[in-house]
Amino acid sequence: MQDRIEEIRKQFTAEIEAIQSLDQLEQLRIKFLARKGSIAELFDALKNASPDQKPVMGKLLNELRSLAQAAFDAAKSRLEQAAQPQEAPFDVTLPGRYVPLGTKHPIVQTLDEYKRIFVGMGFSIVTGPEIENDYYNFDALNFAPDHPARDMQDTFFIHGSKILLRTHTTPVQVRIMEQQKPPVRAIMPGKVYRNEAVSARSLVQFHQVDGIYVDKGVTFSELKGTLVTFAKQYYGSSIKYRFRPSYFPFTEPSAEMDITCYLCAGKGCRICKHSGWLEIVGSGMVHPNILKRVGYDPEKISGFAFGFGVERSLLLRAGIDDIRILYENDLRFLRQF
Ligand code: DAH
Repeated sequence: MQDRIEEIRKQFTAEIEAIQSLDQLEQLRIKFLARKGSIAELFDALKNASPDQKPVMGKLLNELRSLAQAAFDAAKSRLEQAAQPQEAPFDVTLPGRYVPLGTKHPIVQTLDEYKRIFVGMGFSIVTGPEIENDYYNFDALNFAPDHPARDMQDTFFIHGSKILLRTHTTPVQVRIMEQQKPPVRAIMPGKVYRNEAVSARSLVQFHQVDGIYVDKGVTFSELKGTLVTFAKQYYGSSIKYRFRPSYFPFTEPSAEMDITCYLCAGKGCRICKHSGWLEIVGSGMVHPNILKRVGYDPEKISGFAFGFGVERSLLLRAGIDDIRILYENDLRFLRQF
């Protein structure tokens, strides 16, 4: 009888390994585990075993039955699970969900462009405080005590104090030179404030990019080269330009640079007010008084400086004639940049 038990065990093990479906498994159950299956038959045969064999065979048979039952249960749950429709983790054929992405404001894009161009020419980027005092905003920059820009009408002063909102980014030039020995080569982008009526041409808050290069023997021709290089990169290499004498208290001599109107190429249009020229930057050689004030020797050290209006350059290049549109946050406008 022991041989017969062993035979059934081998047969069962071989057959259950080959099972592929629940149907096949059911056939297997009927064959081995059902009431008339081969294991039940063996239990019946146990009655005829000799009394000393009975307990031994009984034990073997019980082992076979629980082994077979466990193997059957395991196979059943494996096959049932496989029969479940498998849910794919995701459907790669579906179109993606739209994620609305913001973009940089055109003013920020323009500031980035200034930085990129000047960093390419070896300038570093420095920032200074928007809340200034009248020393850095005016005195250190050689403004005469009775200069009209000091008037409350033009400058936002904090009541009864010498603290103000800076009217230009030029004071940062003085702050860097106080902290650094020559060479100093930096641009100073940032917000500036003027107490003016808001109109198509002016805002109370706008942006400037000042720049300075001071070292031994810096010349006016380097100023020209730097500004022309900037203008050709920003406005395009086909522009024509001219330098006109001008006046700023902190530069001597001073000059403004004009380029041929970007829109009409010099023929005359509403953007250039029919002159064919657009003023794009104020500049000059740093005034010796300023060099002295920061402890530089004007006999040995010279330099140039310049200041751009950021909104203005953006408007000129895009051919827009009302500055206020930059601050209205109309998406139809912003999406064009
Ligand atoms: N600060 C001047 C302004 O606000 C612009 C300017 C002119 C800056 C000449 C400079 C400069 O650094 O050299 O109108």
